[in-house]
Amino acid sequence: MSQYQTVCEQLQQAPKTWLVTGVAGFIGSNLLETLLKLNQKVVGLDNFATGFQYNLDDVQNLVTPEQWANFKFYEGDIRNLEDCHKACANVDYVLHQAALGSVPRSIADPITTNAANITGFLNMLVAARDANVSSFTYAASSSTYGDHPALPKVEENIGQPLSPYAITKYVNELYASVFSRTYNFHSIGLRYFNVFGKRQNPKGAYAAVIPTWTSLLLQKEQVFINGDGETSRDFCYIKNAVQANILAATALDVKKSAVYNIAFGERITLNQLYQEISSNLKLIAKLEETQPHYRDFRAGDVRHSLADITKAREILHYQPEYSVRDGLKEAISWYTAEFNKVGFGK
Ligand SMILES: NC(=O)c1ccc[n+]([C@@H]2O[C@H](COP(=O)([O-])OP(=O)(O)OC[C@H]3O[C@@H](n4cnc5c(N)ncnc54)[C@H](O)[C@@H]3O)[C@@H](O)[C@H]2O)c1
Repeated sequence: MSQYQTVCEQLQQAPKTWLVTGVAGFIGSNLLETLLKLNQKVVGLDNFATGFQYNLDDVQNLVTPEQWANFKFYEGDIRNLEDCHKACANVDYVLHQAALGSVPRSIADPITTNAANITGFLNMLVAARDANVSSFTYAASSSTYGDHPALPKVEENIGQPLSPYAITKYVNELYASVFSRTYNFHSIGLRYFNVFGKRQNPKGAYAAVIPTWTSLLLQKEQVFINGDGETSRDFCYIKNAVQANILAATALDVKKSAVYNIAFGERITLNQLYQEISSNLKLIAKLEETQPHYRDFRAGDVRHSLADITKAREILHYQPEYSVRDGLKEAISWYTAEFNKVGFGK
């Protein structure tokens, strides 16, 4: 039995109270779904900046009424310390996901990104410390590797940040480490590498590549590739990221105030990704094959990304179960079903 299975069984036998910030967003709502299905108590905090009530409604439809009754939601803002204190009360494990994602958003509006991602993060650290929680796991980012050329990325070797967003995520790690030294408050940072899966928002200028392309193709609209398509990423299916969070939060005996790469550990180029998405859509949605158009590289983007996940494997016993291909099959089936049900206009 894997460590993840063991932990899930233990949690079902002795349920805990979890706080998921950013619970109405993509990763947060997937954490919520898994935790409720494990009969955990969950407190959620979100201000709906980029999250949606319909993500919470979707989770409600996927769990039993008894499980849903274990969820308490606060509409609030992590930039407000009082909201953070309220949400942290009587919580065992914090999974801090709330932040403003997207490199281009941070370039367009660095001040708002800074407020949510740095002030908000500091508020959450203070509130979690004051509430004496058992563990604090937070969403770090592969953007912290910046311009460091080495592949695969190893936790200890980072370069210069390439965007305001990357700065904020690195500052999170610095604050977490200072809180460990100064207040003996320990935390675990998960450096996610391009997470994808159901409920990731397909709309808007700041949407991620997989939901954007899938929704454009379903709507028979043109897909653009930024650059020559040979940019590569280590895409990580959401179920792997959920596993990492649950393992990190419950790994109370490992050295804290560490960061871990969370990815699958393989990279594919954007050209390969386009082919993968197209061929899935051909099978699932019976779409005809189309060609992408190429345009300029996007400012702030890292050229290649690939994670060394040895540290998470060895210390957290993280075992990603879904390859990109497995994940894409599930994700694209989900987007196709959503598109057929409600379109992408909601
Ligand atoms: N998705 C990825 O590939 C990826 C990669 C690296 C890091 N991350 C990090 O993972 C976390 C979750 O990302 P996601 O992809 O689910 O994004 P998302 O935008 O779907 O979710 C973020 C959630 O945080 C909420 N939020 C934002 N500002 C808030 C505030 N001030 N107060 C309360 N709630 C607030 C939003 O409303 C949203 O529901 C973020 O910290 C992000 O930086 C994501």
